[in-house]
Amino acid sequence: MTVTIVGSQLGDEGKGGIVDVYGEEADVVVRYQGGDNAGHTVVHEGTEYKLSLVPSGAIRGKVNVLGNGCVVNPRTLFDELDTLRERGLDPDVRVAERAHVILPYHRLLDGIEEDVKSEDDDEIGTTGRGIGPTYEDKAGRRGVRVGDLLDADVLRERLEYAVPQKRALVEDVYGLDIDDLEDPDALDLEALYDEFAGYGERLAEEDMTVNAGDYLASAMDDGANVMFEGAQGTVLDIDHGNYPFVTSSNPTAGGACTGSGLSPAVVGDGEVVGIVKAYLSRVGSGPMPTELGGVPGDTPDYDGDPENPRTEREELAVHIREAGGEYGTVTGRPRRVGWLDVPMLRHAARVNGFTGLAVNHVDTLAGLDEVKVGHTYTLDGEELETMPATTEQWADCEAEFRTFEGWAERDWAEVAEQGYEALPENARTYLEYLEDELDAAVYAVGVGPGRSETIVRENPF
Ligand code: GDP
Ligand code: IMO
Ligand code: MG
Repeated sequence: MTVTIVGSQLGDEGKGGIVDVYGEEADVVVRYQGGDNAGHTVVHEGTEYKLSLVPSGAIRGKVNVLGNGCVVNPRTLFDELDTLRERGLDPDVRVAERAHVILPYHRLLDGIEEDVKSEDDDEIGTTGRGIGPTYEDKAGRRGVRVGDLLDADVLRERLEYAVPQKRALVEDVYGLDIDDLEDPDALDLEALYDEFAGYGERLAEEDMTVNAGDYLASAMDDGANVMFEGAQGTVLDIDHGNYPFVTSSNPTAGGACTGSGLSPAVVGDGEVVGIVKAYLSRVGSGPMPTELGGVPGDTPDYDGDPENPRTEREELAVHIREAGGEYGTVTGRPRRVGWLDVPMLRHAARVNGFTGLAVNHVDTLAGLDEVKVGHTYTLDGEELETMPATTEQWADCEAEFRTFEGWAERDWAEVAEQGYEALPENARTYLEYLEDELDAAVYAVGVGPGRSETIVRENPF
């Protein structure tokens, strides 16, 4: 069977940790979209692993697949594999021949476009990993696929088509001098060819490439349990998210089929677990109706200073950011924080068809007198239960809050050991409210970052 793990909010819900907890029963862990823009944390035997591309199943020694829906930067892939090996692990990672390759010019263009947009304060706040430009080339039918790296002639042909276009874009559209760039080799055909043909050789030597759909279907025929590890989150989805403040792929559950080569029936026959952070965090720009404080540069029109909070709300934001360690896994950027946004979660539950929920960071909210949630929105005098479709409307939504009594700090390791009933009653009330609103049972509750700090009520496998 399959279990699909999907972020229900704006990323960083703790997906990596839940993949790891449920991963014990999985044979294969598959990333189906995104690339090294993700940052997934797994804490294994007290050691923290941060993965941006390699699926989280690598920590438990599972077979890992980067599906056709992914965009793969071979530099990151081999760096991550080498680092994991240095740390004593033996990761088994297969890469779909149909996945697209992130080339250095994609990263370059990601940066240039953000710079241009920032002149009007319109930047997305991307991770700078070249994700958007690579998916653009995929859709524009001028991309380089992983399978192309294996055939040096095909690789050369693809680069001969793409590189002059990218050079013209940089010089003629953006008016930049290539020789003045930090990395002019990013647009040098021969340098690119040499480096990327080399990655092709390494992929072939290590027998890493697969026809992902075939590979997964035959593993399932042999009885394998497959786990899909979503990256990013529902509101970062290019179709169902908060466009244009989104990533360029489909983190939502439908992406697990198109991005892996297994059918919707296979994915739909399994479970889809929505990962929910007990509050909300956001990296980058865009509206956030339940935001508490703000992060300069990311929060629209925010001129405060998180170091010197001026209001109680800002203090609360700083407290939650510190308590929850809300700094980017890869970039170290402070994340914006706010109360849980329930209209957002209703939208996510519908798009993804959650069969269960895992709610993380219940420990982070401990010690507050009261905990709020944005229960509905008001827009132009009307009450909304779910997110509107445009960013402009969403930005105009005012959250209508519901207040819950807070819960005290506990010895969370002990609570996790004793199980769900050992959670403070007020925390259970909060979780049961979510179950009711989203019509899905809480399968797991995170009360700390470690594997043993997760209360597992239901194992979807
Ligand atoms: P992902 O991108 O969804 O995999 O999440 P990240 O790894 O980017 O961010 C989640 C962060 O919260 C990581 O530092 C985790 O170790 C941590 N974390 C996950 N679940 C919990 C939890 O229940 N409590 C606490 N305190 N930390 C958690
Ligand atoms: P995980 O898997 C949080 C955000 C970026 C930016 C927008 C577009 O760790 O949850 P991109 O580089 O993808 O073009 O950036 O999406 N973003 C994430 N935010 N968690 C992530 O991944 C993210 N991946 C991208 O901050 O706003
Ligand atoms: Mg993350």
